[in-house]
Amino acid sequence: MAAMIVAVDGPVAAGKGTLARRLAAALGCAYLDTGSIYRAVAAKILVAGGDPENAETAAAAARDLEPIDLERDDLRLEKVSQAASKVAAIPAVRAALLDFQRRFAAAPPRGLNGAVLDGRDIGTVVCPGADVKFFLTASVEARAARRHKELLERGEQSIYARVLQDLRERDARDSGRATAPLRAAEDAVRLDTSAMDADQAFEVAMAEIARRGLARQPG
Ligand code: CDP
Repeated sequence: MAAMIVAVDGPVAAGKGTLARRLAAALGCAYLDTGSIYRAVAAKILVAGGDPENAETAAAAARDLEPIDLERDDLRLEKVSQAASKVAAIPAVRAALLDFQRRFAAAPPRGLNGAVLDGRDIGTVVCPGADVKFFLTASVEARAARRHKELLERGEQSIYARVLQDLRERDARDSGRATAPLRAAEDAVRLDTSAMDADQAFEVAMAEIARRGLARQPG
């Protein structure tokens, strides 16, 4: 049977990563956090003292990216988040990263049933033929509160008002760019997670997958 592909898109801190990881485990699929790819490109540029808004610098960093770069421990820093959304607006960067994402989706590791990818443009650009697409949303306040809590739990300093401002800036950049902007695919299932916890979002998504007859046993 062809590998199944699940797309999970949405704005900053809408709960994509948590949902996508759990779906992958439950469905016996591989998981790819596509945000980590843009973050890795940004982190490499920042460490080298480069400008993430310089198209040539960013495109070169994207072309040179290696899988090991996705394991860097600085990917979730807030300055990397902002720089990631800057490199992500550069068309040559997106073009350089597209094949890697599509290959992952089409050829999940042996024995797995498929792939779950989360990001901004999975349902619209990377995998427009995905078997099921989720578009997660939540109020800006709910998302900022989640990210603030996440940062504090990781032992980082965090000020709620600053998190809210950064999140708004990044959402505006991600939605406003000309290439592969953040938007829901027409056939995406929309989930507003403002008042849902991770378990509830997972239950709703799994029910949708079961309704379509897509759930399979791992292996
Ligand atoms: O986890 P969070 O929602 O904060 O962000 P992320 O998914 O790690 O993505 C970081 C940044 O990468 C986003 O702000 C986007 O600018 C960019 N990105 C993208 O453009 N396309 C994707 N498929 C995934 C991420």
